[in-house]
Amino acid sequence: MKAFVRFAWSVLAYNLAVVVWGAFVRATGSGAGCGKHWPMCNGEVVPRSPALETVIEFTHRATSGVALLLVVGLVVAARRTFPAGHAARRAAWASLALVVVEALVGAGLVLFGWVAKDDSAARGWVVAVHLTNTFLLVGAIALTAALAGRPRGLALRGHAGLAAALGVAAGALILTGASGAIAALGDTLFPATSFAEGLRQELSEEAHVLLRLRVLHPFVAVFSTVALGWAARAALRARPDADTRSASFAVLLLAGLQLFAGVLNVALLAPVWMQLVHLLVADLLWVALVVLAAAALAPPAPRSRRRAPRAARRRRWASPGPLPSGEGRSVAGLAPSRTASPALAGPATEWPEMNLRPGRRIDVGGRSGVAMAKLESVEGYGVLVLAVALLAAFTLRMANPPADVVRAASAPRAVTVLEEISIPLAP
Ligand code: HEM
Repeated sequence: MKAFVRFAWSVLAYNLAVVVWGAFVRATGSGAGCGKHWPMCNGEVVPRSPALETVIEFTHRATSGVALLLVVGLVVAARRTFPAGHAARRAAWASLALVVVEALVGAGLVLFGWVAKDDSAARGWVVAVHLTNTFLLVGAIALTAALAGRPRGLALRGHAGLAAALGVAAGALILTGASGAIAALGDTLFPATSFAEGLRQELSEEAHVLLRLRVLHPFVAVFSTVALGWAARAALRARPDADTRSASFAVLLLAGLQLFAGVLNVALLAPVWMQLVHLLVADLLWVALVVLAAAALAPPAPRSRRRAPRAARRRRWASPGPLPSGEGRSVAGLAPSRTASPALAGPATEWPEMNLRPGRRIDVGGRSGVAMAKLESVEGYGVLVLAVALLAAFTLRMANPPADVVRAASAPRAVTVLEEISIPLAP
């Protein structure tokens, strides 16, 4: 099984590289590098003496073909490793279905001409759908790996609160990704030469719909960061074991990093390398959320009668002995006592198989617990400052539009020379 898990994570890593290269195709305007041909490239199987954009587009096609083969390999390996009905097997099949949809959406982009400089509203919708399918695909592959040791998959019954928190966070993250894809398309088609010009573009009365939508993304991102923090906390309360703890930590860390990357993206006017970094972190954040859901919602494996080895016993989440100073703090850093706060211990009875009783001492602390508490509060302040800054920028822009936009709006649109003839002025 270890070999299978390693293979599944490698397939995921490879797919992430393909996704990032796909964004490179969009950001460099190389989507029409193979013309309107699919699956052929400019009418050839392998293009001869290709232009640079053809090389970029063809590389994406070739590498995504390999991705499809790897996912087929994942299904074969899952069938060999696990019995019928095993959750990892089902997740592998879902990955295969999603990689096929991914290829079809990619083909649609080319065949309908939604590439290069095309600025139709339809292209905006399709990039959002493409991004959503990409999230679902990498999520399914991650789930295949994460469920390898969890044959029964995710148990939603009896865990409605936790499932809802994770569901809201997942929905918000998908919405953020989709709005980000539209923002990225806006940046590619209408690059700004300065921050002020970017604002002017969005505010102009004639602004393209993609530019009007671009402004939504940071607001949605703030909402999803709050939802992610809430979901991580709910997961830790319901099941404060080592897997959930490290997945929550990854979610919080990546969410903070992504907020920072987003702000940097705006400040640097979204250079191509930064777009790729921002997209990669978005995908990693999504994967961390999926792994968190698997850790928190999968029913625990039946307890073995044999005593666990000493090292494994030491690593266990439940620590009945005295805790070193600094340990035993709640994640929010609100209960620095050595006994877990009732808020943490209470709902943990959601998993009676784990023998978690209210009042029992739980080690949700240690260095990672303290780091997590700090991270959460830093992130909380970050979200608040960002939300206030965004609101202030938005209000200021509405109340006080840049001078040239006002001039453009009040300028005459035509000069009447004679009563019957009017000469339109250039916009
Ligand atoms: C949870 C937080 C966030 C997530 C998951 C996220 C996700 C994304 C995604 C998936 C894209 C599309 C990338 C592509 O297709 O190439 C994107 C683009 C973008 N995002 Fe975010 N984002 C987040 C936060 C932010 C914040 C806070 C800002 C600004 C304050 C921001 C600014 C941008 C900009 C300017 C783009 C367009 C340029 C690009 O492609 O990178 N993002 N975002």
